[in-house]
Amino acid sequence: MYMAAVEYDPFSLALEDDPYPTYRRLRDEAPLYHSDKWGFWALSRFEDVRNAARDWRTFSSAEGMDIDAPRWAGAGAITDLDPPRHDLLRNVVRNAFQTTNLNTLAPKIQRDTDQLVESFVERGSADLAQELAWALPYLVFFDFMGLPHEPILRKWSDDFRERTEGKEPTQVALDAMENTRRYLADALTDRRKSPRDDLLTEIVNARIDGEPLAQPVIETHSEIVGLCFLLFIAGTDTTAGLIAKALHLLAQHPDQRARLVAHPEQIPGAVEETLRYDTPLQIAARNTTAPVTLHGGTIPNGGRVVLIFGAGNRDDREFDEPDRFDITRNIKRTLAFGEGIHFCLGAPLARLEARIALETVLARIPDYAISGEVQRSSSTVNMRVLWRLPAAFTPRKANVLAS
Ligand code: HEM
Repeated sequence: MYMAAVEYDPFSLALEDDPYPTYRRLRDEAPLYHSDKWGFWALSRFEDVRNAARDWRTFSSAEGMDIDAPRWAGAGAITDLDPPRHDLLRNVVRNAFQTTNLNTLAPKIQRDTDQLVESFVERGSADLAQELAWALPYLVFFDFMGLPHEPILRKWSDDFRERTEGKEPTQVALDAMENTRRYLADALTDRRKSPRDDLLTEIVNARIDGEPLAQPVIETHSEIVGLCFLLFIAGTDTTAGLIAKALHLLAQHPDQRARLVAHPEQIPGAVEETLRYDTPLQIAARNTTAPVTLHGGTIPNGGRVVLIFGAGNRDDREFDEPDRFDITRNIKRTLAFGEGIHFCLGAPLARLEARIALETVLARIPDYAISGEVQRSSSTVNMRVLWRLPAAFTPRKANVLAS
């Protein structure tokens, strides 16, 4: 039977429910794929994606990792930088992600989670995506940076993902980005005047090779603001996607959920499997700095290459029965947080948030059932994230609640 050659268009695929059959065909039939329509190349096999992500010299990030509006995060966005500047800026914030700091943050995350869950639990129904999965990472980000819980930042963040049909940020998006940058610039300026024991203060006082990172006047498009802006966008909808998807998958697999209710110590395994099974950050782009020959084809120097983490994580060359969701899978490695020098700084924080969210939900509303239409977010094309997850439940008695 004649079968048309596989076609991969991430812009239309982002709106479809199931990209995974296309990914399978890419891996099997076109492991080095070229899109005539968009002019990029794509890698989809686990090993190919991993090798490219580890080889930053050949696969440069300097042209930006987003495929719709490259470099929209601006100067200071370490995802869009190569060494040496990448490493110097990454070092400024690296310590904040160390275990000791996250251990200090954990009780706050638990308190935020308890408050969110308690705000809807007696109602017997809630949108678990909006009211928990999306709400929590913003609160955690504010705690993490040392910002007050600030609803307007959430609103701007929703706005700045808006794109025109031509995939450019809309005016609403541009204004929201500018407002967020201004907010962060003001907060940094404030911390310089009145230092506190928080990450913003640490960043504003940072020195690189003896030079202050912050200019005397902190401009909205400076590196230092871009660094904070990147932390904001990198840490919120990714983590929202992870939590919402984990809740969705567990509702669809009640036997596995029952296992977690009985054995909450297995929740970290469920988090890893969710990251593998439906990777929140599906793709990241690179540009080659030399010709690369692979699978009988050649990517020319300067070629735009899309690394499909979401496809690599379903590769049967790496995982047994990759299309089966199984929380008991013993996962040694995935591509969900990238690889190499850009490996996600926030991975331990995202895992911590997801663990606490799942523990809390499974202790308080273990019988939740999907009660309406599940919707995906039209967030950037690099992402695969749920936006609405309506659920109904009967609350269990709370055991311990933070005061
Ligand atoms: C489930 C949640 C998350 C996922 C799936 C995720 C995924 C990723 C991936 C795949 C990359 C590499 C991008 C590339 O190679 O071009 C990355 C980088 C990054 N992530 Fe995350 N991330 C998550 C949560 C977070 C959080 C909570 C934070 C911080 C608050 C964060 C901060 C960063 C930063 C700063 C980078 C850039 C690292 C670098 O370029 O050196 N991420 N993330």
